[in-house]
Amino acid sequence: MAETIPYNPLDAEQRRDPYPLLARARREAPVFFSEAFNIWVVTRYEDVWTVLRDPVRFSSAISTNVRSEIPDEVAAILREGWGEVATLVSCDPPAHTRFRGLINKAFTPRRINEREPRIREIAGELLSRMAGRGRADLVWEFNYPLPMTVISEILGVPREDLDVFKRWSDDLVARLSFDLPLERQKACARSLVEFQKYFSARLDERAEDPRDDMLTAMINARIEGEAPLTRGEMLSILQQILVAGNETTTNLIGSMVALLLEDRTRWEAVCADPALIPAVVEEALRMEAPVQGLFRMATEDLELGGARIPKGAQLQLHYGAANRDEAEFAAAESFDMRRDNAATHLSFGGGPHFCLGAALARLEGRIALSMLCERLPDLRLVPDEPRERAPHFFLRGFEHLWVEWTPRP
Ligand code: HEM
Repeated sequence: MAETIPYNPLDAEQRRDPYPLLARARREAPVFFSEAFNIWVVTRYEDVWTVLRDPVRFSSAISTNVRSEIPDEVAAILREGWGEVATLVSCDPPAHTRFRGLINKAFTPRRINEREPRIREIAGELLSRMAGRGRADLVWEFNYPLPMTVISEILGVPREDLDVFKRWSDDLVARLSFDLPLERQKACARSLVEFQKYFSARLDERAEDPRDDMLTAMINARIEGEAPLTRGEMLSILQQILVAGNETTTNLIGSMVALLLEDRTRWEAVCADPALIPAVVEEALRMEAPVQGLFRMATEDLELGGARIPKGAQLQLHYGAANRDEAEFAAAESFDMRRDNAATHLSFGGGPHFCLGAALARLEGRIALSMLCERLPDLRLVPDEPRERAPHFFLRGFEHLWVEWTPRP
């Protein structure tokens, strides 16, 4: 089959700006097959929604696992750990319904909003550390430590373990990408095993000595008629929370700040009217989906967006492309902080797998922006510093984002 759309998110040019090619796909081949990645890519809003709503015909059993074969040496390392169990993102109802039922309570908007004062405090500390210098790589000094510190507090990890936590997070994310050399795959497998052993020990401690934290809540989570979470299931959920909760939010903050500073009239408008902040967070999520697309498997031969998809085929739901579909969003390629339907973007997915951490990510995005506007209102991009997007098959965010401001005590 001829390659209709030369899709390659790992290519430097497409990484810089994937959207012209995705616009062409929406027009010419809205559901196209990528031979290079052996995957059907779904680009229109309506088609992505059709899939999200239908876990029977479109299974999540492979939703993040794009690599099907695990080399023997990697498998040997993984055997030292707990064995990977499919939970949440990589399973279907009814198993999925049980997991969400057991874990949702810890992530309701009410419970999350209770954390606002503490998140502000963490953001304030990070900004105080930078403020006197007048120049920083925002990704490394603010965008990454903010969600990482928040999630480690939610999980009850002490501050002195943050660096190793960061390494695990990076390695677990890396495992989800294509083209990892064998040595890197082995290192990532070792990180997973270390992560499992660490959290298994913390869960043992909580079973003996309960606290008011998420680990204790997981141990005690019960719903009528369902078995409580097993240790392997808890470790799998914790792994997903760590992976899903960090780089995604780091990427949201980076893309949002860049979208505003690239045209400083936008930045000034937000600083002058902080009531715009919630809408700006949604529009940034729409314009630059931090998770560009996740995966499903067709459970039967079917038709979608004019394409015939065979049973067993893998699909990538391209949230980044769907978010710029003109059929859903007027002038979809333009940033408009007053857009009234920005929040209908698909950056958190939809249907049964709708992002567990959406309320937390939104809150962190809002706090990050409001504190940056408050503390560093004259923030600007450093003109000659390159703003490279990190190489990843389905995550989109900056590796570095250099900014400057008038130093203050
Ligand atoms: C801007 C930040 C974030 C983005 C863009 C994002 C995006 C997504 C998307 C697109 C899905 C749907 C997966 C699918 O359709 O297969 C998802 C699911 C999920 N997210 Fe997020 N996420 C973010 C932040 C978070 C945070 C902060 C957490 C945890 C604290 C989190 C935890 C999860 C989990 C556990 C799932 C799986 C839910 C399920 O399958 O039932 N995410 N996220």
